[in-house]
Amino acid sequence: MENSTVDLKKKIEALREQFANEPNLNPQSLKTKYLGKKGLFNQLAKQLSTLTPDQRKEAGKLLNNFKNNLQTKLEKLDQQPTSAWVDLTVPGILPPQGHLHPVSQAIEEISEIFQKIGFTRVRYPEVDWDYYAFEALNMPANHPARDEWETFFVDLPADKKLGRVVLTPHTSNGQVREMERLKGKPPIRMINIGRCYRRQQDVTHIQMFHQFEGLVVDRGINIQHLKGTLDYFAREFYGADTKSRIRPFHFQFTEPSFEVDFSCHICHGTGEINGNKCSFCKSGWHEVGGAGMVHPNVLRAGGIDANKYTGFAFGWGVERTYTLKEGLNIDDIRLLYSSDVRFLEQF
Ligand code: FA5
Repeated sequence: MENSTVDLKKKIEALREQFANEPNLNPQSLKTKYLGKKGLFNQLAKQLSTLTPDQRKEAGKLLNNFKNNLQTKLEKLDQQPTSAWVDLTVPGILPPQGHLHPVSQAIEEISEIFQKIGFTRVRYPEVDWDYYAFEALNMPANHPARDEWETFFVDLPADKKLGRVVLTPHTSNGQVREMERLKGKPPIRMINIGRCYRRQQDVTHIQMFHQFEGLVVDRGINIQHLKGTLDYFAREFYGADTKSRIRPFHFQFTEPSFEVDFSCHICHGTGEINGNKCSFCKSGWHEVGGAGMVHPNVLRAGGIDANKYTGFAFGWGVERTYTLKEGLNIDDIRLLYSSDVRFLEQF
C-alpha cells in the first residue's frame, strides 16, 4: 500500500511535467484535457479507491494541492491576452510609399546635369523688386517689352530706387543678383531654379511654374559655348540622339537673343510619322525657352566690366521641359498640379 502512494506521487509529478510542456496553450482545451469529467486529473483521482483510508488522507491532500495548482495556472493562462496565430513566413504588407513630386524629380535631375559641368545651384527671391525682374535687365519703367511677362504686382509700398514688389515672372531676376553676390567679379556659372508667376492659364501655361536659369560670364564667352551647353543638356535630359536648335528672337536683356528648341523624340526632328504630320510637335521641334548673349547693360548693372567680359544666359520652364520627356505624354501641363494621386503615382 505504501508503494501505491509513492506511485501516485510519481504520476502526479509526471502529469505536472506534461502540463508544463504543453505545446497548445489554449486555456479552454487545456481545461477539458486536464480538469474535464473524463480528464487526466479525474483518471488519476480514481486511484484513491485502491488505497487504505489512511493512505487516502495523504494521497487526497496531494491530489487536492495538484488540482488547485492546475486551476490557478489555467486561470492565469485565461487572463493572458490571446494573440492571433502568426505565420512569420507570410510576406508582410508593405505600407504605401510616397515619392518626390515629378517636378521636384525634374529639378533634381536638371541640377545634377548642370552641376556635372561646373554650374553652381543658387536660389534667389521669388518675391522680388521690380528692379531685379525688369529694370536691371534693360527694361526701364513703362518699356513695352515688360508686357510679355504678364506680371502680378504685390500691393506694398514701392521703394524709391528698387520700385514695386512683384511675384517674379521669370528666374532672370537672379542674373544681376548673382553678379552683385560675386561683387562684379567673374567667372560666373550659376543655375538658378525657382518658382515664377504669370497671369496665364491653358494646356501649356500655368499661373505658378518653375524656370531654370543658366548664366555664364567670363572672358571670351561666345555663342559656341551657349550652343555646346544646350546640346549637352539635350543629350543628357532627353537622350543621346536629341539635337538643339536656336532661332533668332528678341529679349531686352540678351543680344543677340534666341528661342531654343529641342528635336522631337517621336518623329526624330522630321515632323512626320509614316507620311503623316507628327501630332506631338511643331514640324519636328519643341520650343522650351529663351537664351542669348548677356546684354552689356545687364553686365554693367551687375558691376561687371562689359569691355572685358561676355556671357550667355538661358531660361526654360521646368514643367514644359519635363512634359516633353520621352514616354510621358502629358498633354495638359496643369495635370502636374491637380493633386490627383492617381496621376502622380505614375511617376
Ligand atoms: C523668359 O522668361 C526669359 N527670362 C528667358 C531667358 C532667360 C531668355 C535668359 C534669355 C536669357 P519666356 O517668357 O519665353 O522667357 O519663358 C521661358 C520659358 O518658360 C517658356 O518657354 C516656357 O517653357 C516657360 N513658361 C513661361 N510661361 C509659362 C507658364 N505660364 N507656364 C508654364 N511655363 C511657362
